[in-house]
Amino acid sequence: MKCVSQDEIEEEEVRWGNRRERKLIFNCVVWCILQGQRDKKSNKMNIRCAKPEDLMHMQHCNLLCLPENYQMKYYLYHGLSWPQLSYVAEDDIGQIVGYVLAKMEEESEEDPHGHITSLAVRRSHRRLGLAQKLMDQTARAMVECFNAKYVSLHVRKSNRAALNLYTNTLKFTISEIEPKYYADGEDAFAMKRDLCSFALQNDVTPADPSSFFDNKKNEDK
Ligand SMILES: CC(C)(COP(=O)(O)OP(=O)(O)OC[C@H]1O[C@@H](n2cnc3c(N)ncnc32)[C@H](O)[C@@H]1OP(=O)(O)O)[C@@H](O)C(=O)NCCC(=O)NCCS
Repeated sequence: MKCVSQDEIEEEEVRWGNRRERKLIFNCVVWCILQGQRDKKSNKMNIRCAKPEDLMHMQHCNLLCLPENYQMKYYLYHGLSWPQLSYVAEDDIGQIVGYVLAKMEEESEEDPHGHITSLAVRRSHRRLGLAQKLMDQTARAMVECFNAKYVSLHVRKSNRAALNLYTNTLKFTISEIEPKYYADGEDAFAMKRDLCSFALQNDVTPADPSSFFDNKKNEDK
């Protein structure tokens, strides 16, 4: 039988202690992460229309998430011109963790339609359905307030996450490829979402139902 010295016993005790401490710390970290996810998934997140005091936080979120950034006056322009269309996602302590900045396209002779200027959700709060909810809220407001028949946006060809969201979840379709649309030379997909189908599926009442559903009826004939 091997003889074990007092020193070896003490060393083993220290190692055993370290292992237990490490395991305890690991369990605490896992618990905190899971708890955080539970809090975010529970109804502590709030989606609401953006207020003037949110614009600064939206700009901050934009700077953290996207290379396309705008001056404060551009946020103000959106907020003052179409206060119904931009939305924020806030966490349980009122921090802005996501936003959609949107407007109406007014100069075109086409049907009234909205445009998504920018959308972002902070990394810590992704894959919780926030972007989908923000986009659905703005789509609803575009129909209810402005009779928008569709909503358009641009997205980088390489932005897999956003493309998945737009194509699979929100049913946008690619209308055009715009070569070198972005400052670094990357191409953009121009995309559109039909808001007539959206309104029918989600029981949304348009600002002017007779002109809104006109084309839809003709298409259905
Ligand atoms: C794109 C972005 C807004 C998505 O926000 P989000 O809140 O995480 O998206 P949601 O949780 O609403 O996702 C809805 C669906 O979109 C798709 N999706 C979202 N992120 C995805 C990813 N990283 N990879 C693949 N699909 C993804 C999934 O189909 C997802 O549904 P699921 O989670 O049930 O699978 C977010 O990743 C982001 O802010 N990215 C940086 C900024 C940006 O690219 N903005 C768009 C510019 S055009």
